[in-house]
Amino acid sequence: MSAETAVRALAGVPHEPGAPKPDAIVVADDVVRRFGGMTAVDVRHLEVQRGAITALIGPNGAGKTTLFNLLTGFDKPSSGSWTFEGRSLHGMPAARVARQGMVRTFQLTKALSRMTVIENMRLGASSQPGENLLTALVPPLWRAREKEITEQAEELLVRFKLDHHRDSFAGSLSGGQRKLLEMARALMSKPTMIMLDEPMAGVNPALTQSLLGHIQALRDDGTTVLFVEHDMHMVRHISDWVVVMAEGRIVAEGPPETVMQDAAVIDAYLGAHHDTDLGDDALLSDEVAERLEAEAAAEAAAEEGKA
Ligand SMILES: Nc1ncnc2c1ncn2[C@@H]1O[C@H](COP(=O)(O)OP(=O)(O)OP(=O)(O)O)[C@@H](O)[C@H]1O
Ligand SMILES: [Mg+2]
Repeated sequence: MSAETAVRALAGVPHEPGAPKPDAIVVADDVVRRFGGMTAVDVRHLEVQRGAITALIGPNGAGKTTLFNLLTGFDKPSSGSWTFEGRSLHGMPAARVARQGMVRTFQLTKALSRMTVIENMRLGASSQPGENLLTALVPPLWRAREKEITEQAEELLVRFKLDHHRDSFAGSLSGGQRKLLEMARALMSKPTMIMLDEPMAGVNPALTQSLLGHIQALRDDGTTVLFVEHDMHMVRHISDWVVVMAEGRIVAEGPPETVMQDAAVIDAYLGAHHDTDLGDDALLSDEVAERLEAEAAAEAAAEEGKA
């Protein structure tokens, strides 16, 4: 799906939490995750549009990573259910979820530092569909498969400009390069949907443009992308749709240009006193900033009146 098609498909979707999508690849209902007395995730309804780039934003601690963990089988919900391509994934362990075509990367990179870049890549292929016992047991089949995996890994390394580091230990790469490696590795299984948890965090500005390009290229090849990000420039620049979480709930949805102006979103961010980059043209419209300044001035005046 091209960028335009994805945007067109979402054009009629209401700008509200839980909005139904014309072609949802993920549908979640009443997904709750509690840690002791604290509710980290409480998602009534969420649909993710197939073939689009959806950003999941929200202040620190909103539950974004926990929701990723639940959807991809890295954590178990207290209650709730969801489907991926119409199939229930509830209770399915992460490796099987990956085989269904849903893969994710981590906020903190999990590249294995004592393995080389190419070895890391080859690991990404292990959960591929079609990997069966027969292939594993018959050496010619097995060798052909190995060769195919290595070729695919090398192609991806070229695409992500990591081919010079093919035989370096992953631990010797910069943080940004490890993020790229992790994304490249996730693509080894040819996923239908990729979920990226803060793909830009720690990435050198020199690499960010190419990272954005990679994500858009994935969408243009038909891959569904769901990503968590605090960098509002990135959200604005590449997402077709934005879902906002606060305190475990979905509080707003819409296209990037409207959702950033939403009162619930501004409240969520301001309420959390978060310290991340909202971007210079981001969340606070001039009107809102003026309103807040006016309120502060009124409060100060009232204080003075009392004194
Ligand atoms: N394993 C856990 N045990 C206890 N509490 C947890 C656990 N994992 C997450 N939490 C809590 O759940 C809440 C949501 O955390 P989560 O990591 O999902 O937030 P987030 O939106 O990804 O935040 P950030 O933007 O900082 O990454 C937080 O209050 C966090 O402390
Ligand atoms: Mg997180």
